[in-house]
Amino acid sequence: MRVIAICGSPRSGNMEFILKRILINAEKKGLDTDFVMLKSKSIEFCNGCLTCDSTGLCNIKDDMQIIYSKLEESDIIIFGSPIYFDSVTGMMKNFIDRLNLFYTTKKLKGKKFASICVGQSGSASSMKVINYFEYISNELGLVPIGDLSFEAKESNEVENNSEKVSQIDQFAESVFS
Ligand SMILES: Cc1cc2nc3c(=O)[nH]c(=O)nc-3n(C[C@H](O)[C@H](O)[C@H](O)COP(=O)(O)O)c2cc1C
Repeated sequence: MRVIAICGSPRSGNMEFILKRILINAEKKGLDTDFVMLKSKSIEFCNGCLTCDSTGLCNIKDDMQIIYSKLEESDIIIFGSPIYFDSVTGMMKNFIDRLNLFYTTKKLKGKKFASICVGQSGSASSMKVINYFEYISNELGLVPIGDLSFEAKESNEVENNSEKVSQIDQFAESVFS
């Protein structure tokens, strides 16, 4: 079993910590893991050519090509984004736009999917992001197995809160059991 986590934060903050903690839990259960920090990758904007509609391939030869392969090889996919203006970050949105080939090929269909968000202002915003991730999972044929949201603003707020850290561990337990 292989799990991949995609982090849409432009900083080394809460979401990076949350996803890495989840992957440590996954490794303890014997799963293989991949972590993708979008900010460290070179990912162009979707150019709208729609070539993927007929070929199932993306014409843009950048770091997404290796991420496509990693996603196809994974059994469980986790998307994590901070909340920016009541939505995902631009980085995460750009990544999602580049997944249009999977809308066509349905190559991710049936894979398990979990989503996580973190923001400073609580449940109204986080529900919007979690609902958006649910929409994406429907479009790609993924099977939702859980979601998690945290309230935090400063970059190390989740890491420094033992209750929140044990919430992450419980989430990992439920998702990987
Ligand atoms: C440009 C910007 C917009 C933001 N918009 C929201 C928002 O709409 N709702 C919210 O709850 N938090 C918002 N936040 C706060 C971040 O979601 C919060 O700081 C979060 O902990 C960042 O996660 P990270 O540490 O993983 O980067 C915003 C932060 C920035 C920088």
